[in-house]
Amino acid sequence: MADFGYDVSDHLGVDPLFGSLGDLDALIDEAHGVGLRVVLDWVPNHTSDRHPWFVEARSSRASAKRDWYIWADGPPDRPPNNWKAAFTGVGGTAFPPAWTWDERTEQWYLHLFLAEQPDLNWDNPEVVEAMLATLRFWLDRGADGFRVDVVHALAKPPGLGDLPPELAEIPIAALLDEPAVHPLIERIRETVKAVPAPERVLIGETVLPSVDQIAAYYGSPGRPELDLAFNFHPLRTRWDASAWRRRIDEVLTAVAPRGWPAWVLSNHDNPRHRSRYGSLARARAAAVLLLALPGTPFLYAGEELGLSDAEVPSGRRVDPGGRDGCRAPIPWDGGPLHGWAAEPWLPWPPEAAAAHAAAQEADQGSTLNLYRRLIALRRGSPSLLSGRFEWLGSSREVLAWARGEDRVAAVNFGAGEGWVELPPGCWETAVSTTRPAGPAPTPTSAGGRLALGADEGILLRRVD
Ligand code: NOJ
Repeated sequence: MADFGYDVSDHLGVDPLFGSLGDLDALIDEAHGVGLRVVLDWVPNHTSDRHPWFVEARSSRASAKRDWYIWADGPPDRPPNNWKAAFTGVGGTAFPPAWTWDERTEQWYLHLFLAEQPDLNWDNPEVVEAMLATLRFWLDRGADGFRVDVVHALAKPPGLGDLPPELAEIPIAALLDEPAVHPLIERIRETVKAVPAPERVLIGETVLPSVDQIAAYYGSPGRPELDLAFNFHPLRTRWDASAWRRRIDEVLTAVAPRGWPAWVLSNHDNPRHRSRYGSLARARAAAVLLLALPGTPFLYAGEELGLSDAEVPSGRRVDPGGRDGCRAPIPWDGGPLHGWAAEPWLPWPPEAAAAHAAAQEADQGSTLNLYRRLIALRRGSPSLLSGRFEWLGSSREVLAWARGEDRVAAVNFGAGEGWVELPPGCWETAVSTTRPAGPAPTPTSAGGRLALGADEGILLRRVD
């Protein structure tokens, strides 16, 4: 694997490294049996250079699959335009050109990511049909929906011209936002929604400079596109009350009128938020933030354990995008292999010995149980799921908001005490990241100011 699964050589199979189609069927069945849905990661922008389509395409300029990829003429020493690819390579520092010269057929081919990941040509109706057929294959197997990789980049600008010099150092994958992509997403949506109930979900990875651009990927009422569009701007926001307030306002203004916001703090492409924010206390407070905002929170495996990134010595780095640290394996238990069958290729996260899943399971105050309580509270509260959002008065380093009439969330970003102005009524703690956990909620206040400790996240419910 050149990009750990994002270099797909067969869109209708499971790499033997991970199992078989039979294993996937069993996984989907078991998940459905316990009320879970399974969303697959679908990679339509590019294939592996080992994919039979690309092998055929690069075999000759006359190949029937030639136009399934994006080729350009030019001298072998000068790429056709100034676009940069997304990865520097293991140990590298500069973004290489988004083009690779094919010796045999003497043309360049486009790849927004690695040279091993040639871009498909979505201008070609045969490509569109072939890729939609891969969606139907997984829908027939019971997939509950898709997370669509770099969906905003499927369409390329006519003429493939240079970027203006001030943008030329930014990888092109983070900029492409062609009008022609929207009808393609409508086709994808049609395919996903065509299957009989239950309805399947369409989530898109939309890595774009502005939240307004991302919001456009929800489509319009008559022409809906994605159900959820990832917005990574909050993920890149520092741990600071006013910076986060701006981000939340931006989403409520740009996204909420068009669609249902998606919130992400960590994923497989970025340092974990525990590492970015610098402490477990902040990571826990961030869990309250994420789970009490209006929209759908996405949790990345291991954030429910409060994990940090692993320290990866240079000799063990394998990812061309420098993302090994956040991809370290989950420590399931306290054994030498932490519950795995063999030594993994990446080191363990630093918390593996003390804060593995089994230890957290048994500890009521653990981060794992904090997430469980927050999730249960969301599920049980129409206000948290879809109640209106309103900012509340608070001290400078606290963000506090009401959801509906009977829930309040507050997060103290500061290292000292803070406060929130509670709406009238009698409120009790449903969950706090610092106050003792326990089955019986503690009454905290009857309206007025509630004091918050350093780095505290708290969720209150109204009890009168
Ligand atoms: C976005 C994915 O999140 C990332 O992990 C991958 O490397 C690129 N797309 C290329 O597929």
